[in-house]
Amino acid sequence: MSKLSHAQWSSKMAFILAATGSAVGLGNIWRFSYMVGDSGGAAFVLIYLACVALVGLPILVAEWLIGRRGQENPINSMIDLARKNGRLPAWALVGASGVLAAFLILSFYSVIGGWSLSYTLGSVTGAFSGQDADGVSEIFTGLLGNPVALTLWHTAFMALVIGIVARGVTKGLEGAVRTLMPALVVLMLVLVGYGMTTGHFGEALAFMFSPDWGAVTGDVVLAAMGQAFFTLSLGMGIMMAYGSYLGEDVNLIGTARTVIILDTAIALLAGLAIFPIVFANGLSPGEGPGLIFVTLPLAFGNMTGGMILGLMFFLLLTFAALTSAISLLEPVVELMEERTPLSRVAATLVSGAAVWALGIAALMSFNVWDNFLILGLNVFDLLDTFTSKFLLPLTGLGAILFVAWQLDRDSVAAELNLTGGQATLWTVVSRFVAPAGVILVFISSL
Ligand code: PHE
Ligand code: NA
Repeated sequence: MSKLSHAQWSSKMAFILAATGSAVGLGNIWRFSYMVGDSGGAAFVLIYLACVALVGLPILVAEWLIGRRGQENPINSMIDLARKNGRLPAWALVGASGVLAAFLILSFYSVIGGWSLSYTLGSVTGAFSGQDADGVSEIFTGLLGNPVALTLWHTAFMALVIGIVARGVTKGLEGAVRTLMPALVVLMLVLVGYGMTTGHFGEALAFMFSPDWGAVTGDVVLAAMGQAFFTLSLGMGIMMAYGSYLGEDVNLIGTARTVIILDTAIALLAGLAIFPIVFANGLSPGEGPGLIFVTLPLAFGNMTGGMILGLMFFLLLTFAALTSAISLLEPVVELMEERTPLSRVAATLVSGAAVWALGIAALMSFNVWDNFLILGLNVFDLLDTFTSKFLLPLTGLGAILFVAWQLDRDSVAAELNLTGGQATLWTVVSRFVAPAGVILVFISSL
């Protein structure tokens, strides 16, 4: 808890790997592609890219900076820094809403992690071999319509997350991230290569990059910004918590750039792999959350070596999902450990069980509760929408406003190694561009 007992990352590389492990996950492959498809394609992609660069990068830097200066969990870091700088302790709400967001997101994230596990097994048993579009769609609807199976897979995924977090071995995963992340990139490239053979690659390119601005609504813009926050693990206190382990020698802006380029590249590759399959098979891009689960099995089921590649892909996807899920549970557990008499294991079990229970409500939205709507949304969509479109951007806005307006400007510039024109650029972006971006997006969606 204190500065002295707070260990630091052994090296800059370890930090990049941990941040990448949190950032790269289902958000890049599952959520990115289905949101692009749902939102009509290129305009969403381009707005998302703009949000990543103009809002995501400064907020990522701001969260790391707060964590590194505060040296504690997000809530305490915010309280401490606010006090030291003569600001209101109410800034701690930024930390608190982040922990709430992490809790809510993990509940539905684990359900999709369960789908990925289930498809890993499906690849081994050859369930997808030779299937056509109807066949794979049937497999997917069969899974969705079976609450017992969904519960089992969700439980299995949460059990893995809880097991790893309870034993406190999360840092041991960096080595695995180092080897498995490049493997995931290679497999995505293979899938993009397969997409090129379908004869519909050009259509997919146009869908992703040739925008029809006329069709853009405020909601599309908000969805794109929400995706930027979700995919970079922003607005959740996670990056703040990571920053608290960060040594003084790490260059925040350069590191943020590295993590963001990797995360964005994987998302774009996912789109380039998935949409050719969509168009080649007459599927709808607006398929919804099932998009990757009806397109990728088609590719694996019909290419040579598809069984092995499919198995490898879903294993790697599950692993990427696990490292992200661990980073979601970790802040909840840390907070409980510090604020209650519970041991780490007990705190993990209690918070993991609560997340698991909420996840059951989320997965029932696909079957027995599909008519149970709140504000027109089922539980799954409600959790997803409320967190990514509101909680994350608001918390991130709080973080950037705090760094830009409440901390001493010169010391921030010095900490970021910025001088002259670059320091001015940072001030303009962090004070005006990024916050105005978030606020304008909110306004446009009203
Ligand atoms: N960024 C992760 C992904 O893209 C998801 C995540 C969100 C992880 C928030 C941690 C916190 O899959
Ligand atoms: Na991501």
